[in-house]
Amino acid sequence: MCGIIGYTGRKNALPRLIEGLKALEYRGYDSAGVAFVHKNGIKAVKSKGRIALLEEKLKGEQESFCAIGHTRWATHGEPSDVNSHPHGTDSVYIVHNGIIENYAVIKEFLTEKGYSFESETDTETAAKLIDWFYSKEKSPISAIRKALEMISGSYAIGAVFEGYPDKIYAFRKDSPLLAAPSEDGGFITSDISAILRHTREFIRLEEGEIAVLSPDSIEILSTDNTPIERDFETVSWDIEAAEKGGYDHFMLKEIFEQPDAVKKTLSPRVTDGLPTLDITKLAGRCVGELGAIHIVACGTAYHAGLIGQYAIEKLARIPVKVELASEFRYKNPILRKNDLVIIISQSGETADSLAALRLAKERGVRTLAVVNVAGSTIAQEADSVLLTWAGPEIAVASTKAFSVQIALLYLFAIRLALDSDTISEEEARQYCTELTTDVPAAISKALDLTDLCSSTAQKYKDNSSIFFIGRGASSALAHEAALKMKEISYIHCEAYAAGELKHGTISLITDGTPVFAFLTNRSTADKMISNIREVKTRGARVMLFCREGMPIPDGIADDIIPIPSLSQLFMPMSEIIAAQLVAYYMSCHLGCDVDKPRNLAKSVTVE
Ligand code: M6R
Repeated sequence: MCGIIGYTGRKNALPRLIEGLKALEYRGYDSAGVAFVHKNGIKAVKSKGRIALLEEKLKGEQESFCAIGHTRWATHGEPSDVNSHPHGTDSVYIVHNGIIENYAVIKEFLTEKGYSFESETDTETAAKLIDWFYSKEKSPISAIRKALEMISGSYAIGAVFEGYPDKIYAFRKDSPLLAAPSEDGGFITSDISAILRHTREFIRLEEGEIAVLSPDSIEILSTDNTPIERDFETVSWDIEAAEKGGYDHFMLKEIFEQPDAVKKTLSPRVTDGLPTLDITKLAGRCVGELGAIHIVACGTAYHAGLIGQYAIEKLARIPVKVELASEFRYKNPILRKNDLVIIISQSGETADSLAALRLAKERGVRTLAVVNVAGSTIAQEADSVLLTWAGPEIAVASTKAFSVQIALLYLFAIRLALDSDTISEEEARQYCTELTTDVPAAISKALDLTDLCSSTAQKYKDNSSIFFIGRGASSALAHEAALKMKEISYIHCEAYAAGELKHGTISLITDGTPVFAFLTNRSTADKMISNIREVKTRGARVMLFCREGMPIPDGIADDIIPIPSLSQLFMPMSEIIAAQLVAYYMSCHLGCDVDKPRNLAKSVTVE
């Protein structure tokens, strides 16, 4: 959600910023802007829309060796040139990720001092507050500190000050910000992928610190402004991982990375055929003492939690509640001291999930994070962490992160079950073998469905609404399939437990209404077939995601996508691939912006 980049050094900053903003565009793409130091002071250039438009506006600008830039996902004020970042005055400009919660109070304070405001943004109030203190204190550090005493909310901010033409100041709270050295200068960024062409080393700023970047140094000041030494971290993946690698879109590339991502996430955690996860360490107590498990997450990660719930309850017979993070926080959840709260998040920065994690910790409940981004805020704050090793996920629509999340939850469920004596060692070995070998193979096989998924999408692309139905874990999967389709193709989709349709929603089925049905569960196949017949007889056009080899009665399906077979527990891992591919091609055939769907951002750092 919004992206920040800044550079101060010996080379022209503007091309570096444009290149970085393009890499960050997946985080926000309503508008973008830069503020750069030039011979007469600081100049800001901003543009509604994509980075290419900003790039156009910057053509002909003189070189600058110090600049900050931003790509925006609007929260306060519509996307427009004037609401774009950077915001500021002749003396100071800032770029900001997050939300200044008390911006109205600050605005009132500044209005009394004679300030006026041109944008509707919260960020402009923060910029002008810093300007106010800068005019009094004459020191950027003192101005920032004074302003932060008044600001509440979340922020990652990069600032440039008139009078300090080669310096960038950076600070953060609840939103990530990195400072990184390179051969020809220093960078700040909210996401390392923006600067990977220049450096692989970075420092993760801590709350309360201020980083001061000069062309040859990065100074980190602690809360009392004492310089502190910090070790650099090194990025573990390379630039290719954050590029399209010959695929038309990041989403397709990431769909195809799933067999490897699943192997990478699972293999190091299985030894001698059994999961090496140490439940006592992860849960803070042995399985026998464990109460309920609460899985809390948003969006796709929430759907992964629903599949995890099926697996844990089936194998380990431990009660699991799955909650939307945005609801969990405000419902005064019943948490008992022996419970475990599992937060699932690809980015590790989702504000709702972070708030849920903090609530659980305040209540003294043990927390475990399942996170893809090492060092993210959720990964840092949780009591224990299980990293999914999917590599960077750039497309807004989450695909490989979902697969590794459920793969890891399966492994966790197997270990829990083994430790709870609800399955035997032999059963655990069988499950592990299937999970680590058959599942990646089935995912690879499902990827061969590309052409069929594309032609199926072509047939259904002109519908304005699609139903997804399934039973058991496939009902949870139907929700994920519907979310994928909605977010990137803008077709309205409804997901239902197949048995629930007749309790109301079936009234929406008329001639030609598309129903995408998951017929993969052998034990409930008869019931599922009855549910499909119920919609078929009311005129539905049925597209079946059907387990390979499953007998299909005549006349129930108009189209069929055969899903590579696995044992029932793991079927979602192969079902999801076909669902992702259909959603992907639907978006392509409709001419939508697959990787950057409207109104969405990759990492949602506001509540
Ligand atoms: O980074 P997180 O996993 O915490 O993100 C949660 C959701 O915002 C995310 O899964 C979102 O629903 C995706 N756009 C779905 O494709």
